[in-house]
Amino acid sequence: MTYESLDTWEGLKAECEGCFNCELCKGRHNVVFGAGSTEAEIMFIGEGPGEQEDLQGIPFVGPAGKLLDSMLEMIDLDRSKVYIANIVKCRPPGNRDPKETEQVACISWLYRQMVLLNPKIVVCLGRIAAGMIMNKNLKITKEHGLWYIIEGRHMMATYHPSALLRDPSKRPEAFCDLRKLRKEIQAVCSRTY
Ligand code: URA
Repeated sequence: MTYESLDTWEGLKAECEGCFNCELCKGRHNVVFGAGSTEAEIMFIGEGPGEQEDLQGIPFVGPAGKLLDSMLEMIDLDRSKVYIANIVKCRPPGNRDPKETEQVACISWLYRQMVLLNPKIVVCLGRIAAGMIMNKNLKITKEHGLWYIIEGRHMMATYHPSALLRDPSKRPEAFCDLRKLRKEIQAVCSRTY
């Protein structure tokens, strides 16, 4: 399904940077809007900014981001060619999970980004992104690496890089998921990545 967007990337980013929809705005240094190619057919969705992301205003630049970069490298996918955004755009204090009220307050920014980007492939990193974008009952341990077509987009959930930092024994499964992503890109995308 394709929707027409009334937004522009610059306008949406500026609007998002002035957001006071929830309490998280009080502690932020930066709104972490999203990064990557606005022409990408592939979108990665994380949970919310951590300390480094909040300080730099860029998603996945802290330890979890470094791991994400090296996992993408393993399938020869450059992060500058995909688009990366989060469910919540401001850092939850102490890196706690974003509350449901905060996710709901923030989600329209992501929906608008998705309409603008119109990705063919969406990869949800972790339970919170998968729950919000794919299915609230999705169990990462059982359903990671499985493809679902939702509103015309090919969607898969995999482990969040922070979970892989905490439990490296899950890394081979996550790598397997990324190899499935590489295959899906070849099957679904019109450009080469
Ligand atoms: N974890 C996330 O979910 N997003 C980031 O941007 C960084 C860490």
